[in-house]
Amino acid sequence: MIMILNFMSMIVAKLHPVSNHDRKARMTHTAIPTLDTLISEWEAQQEAYIRHRSQRFEVVLDALGYRENPPRTVLDLGGGLGSFSRLILERFPDATVITLDADPALLEVARHNLAPFGTRSIIHEVNLRDPRWSDVLGGVRPDVAVSSTALHWLPNADLVALYGALAGIIVPGGIVLNADHFAGAPAASEFTRLAEADDAAAQRAAFSTGTPNWDEWWSRLGQREEFGALITERDRRFATIHDDPAPTAAFHVEALRIAGFREAGTLWQYLNDYVAYGVRG
Ligand SMILES: C[S@@+](CC[C@H](N)C(=O)[O-])C[C@H]1O[C@@H](n2cnc3c(N)ncnc32)[C@H](O)[C@@H]1O
Repeated sequence: MIMILNFMSMIVAKLHPVSNHDRKARMTHTAIPTLDTLISEWEAQQEAYIRHRSQRFEVVLDALGYRENPPRTVLDLGGGLGSFSRLILERFPDATVITLDADPALLEVARHNLAPFGTRSIIHEVNLRDPRWSDVLGGVRPDVAVSSTALHWLPNADLVALYGALAGIIVPGGIVLNADHFAGAPAASEFTRLAEADDAAAQRAAFSTGTPNWDEWWSRLGQREEFGALITERDRRFATIHDDPAPTAAFHVEALRIAGFREAGTLWQYLNDYVAYGVRG
């Protein structure tokens, strides 16, 4: 099977091998899942890998609400099927959210997920590693950029370049909020061991009660015939993985400062799960 760039599947494979027998026993769904079911299962699957994902979303939403001006034009970087985009559209009725992702299959689900928001939702298929990715915005300047569990897919040089590009396009006073797993320092530390043990415990609890894991969720999406070609294309796009060491929180903060954000830091942390932010000067 083609390996995709996702540290969560690597973690689960390493810490929680699920036998083929167990997997088959749990995957004997016969009915083709609806898109709404698949969206709910995605949220549960992601929550299995990020124990406090909902709280992490809430922290960002609250932070946006506390700012002097409510968000107006928000980028959701690596937005997938639109989880974060949807929450922002629900919380801030005057906001437009631009969901950016390179995965044509997830974006097809996002179109369904975000359809109720009409023209307040804009979706672009774009590779954030492409130095010209911001061309899709057509000159629109966001005041907020968020991301959830996505930017670790970028090699470190591309992450730094992305922060630099964001500093150039976000309006003065605007903010970047990046919610993701960051590495412990040093890598082989007690901190890392505890964080991995907690990840393992959260996954064990979720998967033992029938939540599909990453691979199972993709198999379920593939049961819908219209996604066959899209999944083949996403597998092709994500066929190679980078092997850069995962950046630490300190790396993210420094990269934001160097990019030109006047203030940068971490807003929230649970073990190795963080929200890093940068405020544009
Ligand atoms: C684990 S998913 C998270 C999706 C969503 N943000 C969420 O929290 O549910 C990671 C996302 O990053 C996207 N991604 C990875 N590399 C990308 C790239 N180079 N350009 C655009 N999107 C990318 C993937 O396609 C995927 O949708």
